[in-house]
Amino acid sequence: KNGLQVAIDGPASAGKSTVAKLVAKQFGYVYCDTGAMYRAITLKTIEAGISLDSDTKISKLAMTTKISFEPDENGQRVFVDGKEVTEDIRQEDVTNSVSAVAAIANVRQELSARQAEIAKDGGIVMDGRDIGTTVLPNAEVKIFLIASVAERAQRRYKENIQKGINTPLDELQLEIEARDYKDSHRKISPLTKAKDAVEIDTTSLSIKEVVSAIAKVINNQL
Ligand code: C5P
Repeated sequence: KNGLQVAIDGPASAGKSTVAKLVAKQFGYVYCDTGAMYRAITLKTIEAGISLDSDTKISKLAMTTKISFEPDENGQRVFVDGKEVTEDIRQEDVTNSVSAVAAIANVRQELSARQAEIAKDGGIVMDGRDIGTTVLPNAEVKIFLIASVAERAQRRYKENIQKGINTPLDELQLEIEARDYKDSHRKISPLTKAKDAVEIDTTSLSIKEVVSAIAKVINNQL
């Protein structure tokens, strides 16, 4: 193996992707954002006009959709069937529909198999909801990132302002809570902390502090 498997899970907007990218950079590992894969299928579902409760149609779509990543200085660009969707998959309609798509058994089966394949040789930092519990149960490093919902809404709000999106703070907080509820209560591989995961509460930590806390856990395993 060329390096460890590092799994980073946690609720929405806990800062997973921000720190995962930096950790990957620090160790020369590949970064993989599994949420982007669920978002890609959700975007395609919406664009195809498929209803969110059509499990069969969405499963078929997941099985026939090519999702690829290209690393760049900001982390990674995302492509669906060769077309770039890096920005499109972050739109509000996708964000608010993705939990429904991610609850479909065959969608999860398909995407988690692809994720396990991507990670099989190690040297990877993979973030998501079920990486430590389901996708990479033998990952050498498992991190569970949490933060208060008020803090997470605030972070999302600031990110949005930079992108020119003006959703009110209280609305963002409700959206985050609704998504966490759905992700934690679905039947298949719900969001939960793996028994052997190290929990880090990022509420009052800087990005740098979170990255060095994770680096410490990794260095202990090297
Ligand atoms: O991480 P991100 O917020 O982009 O994830 C979007 C959604 O994708 C989550 O709310 C969840 O419904 C789904 N997801 C998942 N399992 C993962 C990663 C994401 O169910 N491993």
